[in-house]
Amino acid sequence: MLALKCNNLGKAFGRRWLFRRLSFTVPQGTGLVILGPNGSGKTTLLRLMCGLVQPTEGKIVWEINGSVLRPSQVRSLIGAVLPDCEPYGELTAEENMQLVADLHGINKNYANEWLERVGLAHAKRQLINEFSSGMKLRLKLAMALVHEPMALLLDEPTAMLDEQGRQLVSELVAEQKRKGIVIVATNDERDVGYGEQQIVLGKNR
Ligand SMILES: Nc1ncnc2c1ncn2[C@@H]1O[C@H](COP(=O)(O)OP(=O)(O)OP(=O)(O)O)[C@@H](O)[C@H]1O
Ligand SMILES: [Mg+2]
Repeated sequence: MLALKCNNLGKAFGRRWLFRRLSFTVPQGTGLVILGPNGSGKTTLLRLMCGLVQPTEGKIVWEINGSVLRPSQVRSLIGAVLPDCEPYGELTAEENMQLVADLHGINKNYANEWLERVGLAHAKRQLINEFSSGMKLRLKLAMALVHEPMALLLDEPTAMLDEQGRQLVSELVAEQKRKGIVIVATNDERDVGYGEQQIVLGKNR
């Protein structure tokens, strides 16, 4: 069983604490929603979960059946939609998917199926520089999911999306919870239902 465990976690940049004394466990089959105003540290907390930044104090670990995973294991376990994972603008959607599929050793046809799933089949030969923000977000979802990660981390997944797109995210979140864990950082109250647990950052400022 997979779990994300966070114990007395704190992150500061310079002398300014974004958050301190965060403790929670996200068990397999559930979701966590991270709420808070702009600049409260939601994206930073997702980066901590990915191992892209290190905690200032406390601990954050991924465990399978009680064993702590190494950073390389965490990377293959996670799929993330973050500002850090942008597709290449001068490549097409299909080419971007191909790159990610190659990284994970996944078959090209399967990567293309994900483009269909996120509603981008019609635009697969279009350059990402010509994509709208909602289309780009859909592509980022496909890129995050193509290796069937056990944990899906989403930063503001519905901010750019139309009603159909929001429906897609709801379905993907529900599917992910059957497979593993989902974590969603959001400013949008409508996304609160994605998780059984909620954390609100920036309350003490
Ligand atoms: N690498 C960094 N070095 C210094 N400060 C940083 C760094 N990364 C983030 N910050 C600061 O930490 C604070 C929190 O940023 P973060 O992006 O985590 O907030 P957020 O809650 O995701 O905001 P938003 O709702 O706007 O996406 C901001 O004040 C930001 O400037
Ligand atoms: Mg953010």
